[in-house]
Amino acid sequence: MATHTFPTYKRWNLTFASAHEDTITTTDGRAFIDFMSGIGTVNMGHNHPDIVKAVEKQLHRGWHGSNFFQYEQQEQVAGQLAKITALDLVFFANSGSEANEAAIKLARKATGRTEIVSFTQSFHGRTYGSMAATGQTKIQEGFAPLPKGFTYAPFNESDQLETYVSEDTAAIVLETIQGEGGVIPAHKAFLEKAEAVAKQHGALLIIDEIQTGMGRTGVPFAYQKFDLSPDIITTAKGLGNGFPVAAMIGKKELEGHFGPGSHGTTFGGNPLAMAAVAGTLQVLNTPGLLDSVEEKSKRAFQSLHEQLKDVAEVTEIRGDGLMIGIACEQPVASMLTNMQEKGLVALPAGEKVIRLLPPLTISSERLTAGLEIVAEAIKETVKTTA
Ligand SMILES: Cc1ncc(COP(=O)(O)O)c(C=O)c1O
Repeated sequence: MATHTFPTYKRWNLTFASAHEDTITTTDGRAFIDFMSGIGTVNMGHNHPDIVKAVEKQLHRGWHGSNFFQYEQQEQVAGQLAKITALDLVFFANSGSEANEAAIKLARKATGRTEIVSFTQSFHGRTYGSMAATGQTKIQEGFAPLPKGFTYAPFNESDQLETYVSEDTAAIVLETIQGEGGVIPAHKAFLEKAEAVAKQHGALLIIDEIQTGMGRTGVPFAYQKFDLSPDIITTAKGLGNGFPVAAMIGKKELEGHFGPGSHGTTFGGNPLAMAAVAGTLQVLNTPGLLDSVEEKSKRAFQSLHEQLKDVAEVTEIRGDGLMIGIACEQPVASMLTNMQEKGLVALPAGEKVIRLLPPLTISSERLTAGLEIVAEAIKETVKTTA
């Protein structure tokens, strides 16, 4: 097909027509169980009525005034995010990369230091700062020179961390579960060590919750499952349930370093985006929602372990909540195609990991049906390529 878009995405042979709850329909009339949620974005399901209602209400009241105005909606949402995270101040952006960019800039300005320590296999975005923080050379190839001052410590290696951090370190940046890197959960001891080392050297701890946040692991933000007190967290993807919006949330002590003129973005936190976030937070706060994620997660892991126990090519099933990685010995592309043929869309995370990110609101029946398709597709593909 002739195209007028840059070929930056390796697109599937599927054309999105519409989506509802846990189903995506393509223009050829096929319906798919959604096990990807728009890459961990539509956590509350497509067209959630409360979120649609919130956005619709704002749609007819003006979309954008600019940050010269005081925005009541922005203040309300910031207050809710501060309460949920026990942090204090929010900067709104439009994408995950931008939220991380803001965090990196703030960390350097607040500490007066230059060095940023992140981790191997991490993913923090595609802008220059967030790409430099990303510990994967394949993401950086061809874009030199990158900003200076970024180093990559081995992920989950507590013993080595100290050698990467010094009095020049502005921040340690990490994901509690590396998403794009292969759904790799950080060990508790590693996370605690990262915080201790950051504190000891006067560096900030930045936790990237862009993929793990907004209920994905059964708590509002994944770091809340640990005894951690980050200086800054960043969130995007699920924040507006598919509406492009992001946030950097930080401690009050950082306030003076992000004064007027120091940072900004035209669209950040506009009323339409804030309506989407307000609606999404309302759903996130629904009693029982997060408990249901834990319960579905338990069932999903049990079911996958049971169905795949005899498949030697599956080396590990890992993750937390409804962020599940199935690590395989072979590339997973053909398994994902097989799933599509059976009526389900899921994601890769690197070449050899299948990543499942169903909507948190998926029904039990659809979850069970989807897990059966995933397991069948893996077994069939393994057999035919053996
Ligand atoms: C952990 C993490 N950080 C940052 C990003 C970048 O977000 P965006 O694509 O919205 O710029 C992503 C996107 O996949 C991510 O998973």
